[in-house]
Amino acid sequence: MRLFRIDASVRAEGSVTREVADTVLGVWREAHAEGTLTRRDLRTDPVPASAWQSLVGSPPPPLHEADQARALAAKLADELVEADAYLFAVPLYNFGPSQHFKTWTDLVLTDPRFAPGAERALTGKPAVLVTARGGGYGPGTPRWGWDHSTPWLVRMLQDVFGFNLQVSEAELTLAEVNPALAPLRGLAAESLAAAHRSARRHGEFLAAQVAAGVA
Ligand SMILES: Cc1cc2nc3c(=O)[nH]c(=O)nc-3n(C[C@H](O)[C@H](O)[C@H](O)COP(=O)(O)O)c2cc1C
Repeated sequence: MRLFRIDASVRAEGSVTREVADTVLGVWREAHAEGTLTRRDLRTDPVPASAWQSLVGSPPPPLHEADQARALAAKLADELVEADAYLFAVPLYNFGPSQHFKTWTDLVLTDPRFAPGAERALTGKPAVLVTARGGGYGPGTPRWGWDHSTPWLVRMLQDVFGFNLQVSEAELTLAEVNPALAPLRGLAAESLAAAHRSARRHGEFLAAQVAAGVA
């Protein structure tokens, strides 16, 4: 049983996505103690944006650059297709997706296994997306509709890669440090608690799907 986990938070300490993803991972490990974990941390090991340019840009780069980029794309794609279950921890940055995660996605999609028309290697496999936002984005709030990360992530993971996807979200994560959000600290705590509760359910979902041989 193999779990693939990717983290995109730029923070090593105090990261809410890492903390909530750890909850998912803990439940997974209880069920699959013998399982293996492949981790890709985009904070310490970001994918170079130049790799994608080498493969899709024009004029083409020197041959060795394209070869290097193709080899990296194949390595990232291998990590994906070899796993049975998936955990994506990706925060909201500047109202959009993490650039590190977008760069990773762009490069993975250059691999022939993810080309349009290729047999979909990941269809139906169970995955959990953990995301976190500093502010509040619910209906009726001033920023309603400004989170352009979560809808994009869901489209890519669910509809492009074909995962059977569950999502855990925490909001108002900046309430503790941003005085303007201080009145919302109670809501922030509720949101974080709800994210951990759903993370536990989603950890069980990953474990059960894999045990049932769905992946
Ligand atoms: C460079 C940067 C940009 C951010 N942009 C936004 C934003 O547009 N909207 C928002 O609600 N929070 C924003 N945040 C806050 C993060 O979404 C929030 O701190 C989240 O918890 C980060 O994930 P992490 O806790 O896993 O590191 C930003 C944080 C950073 C560092």
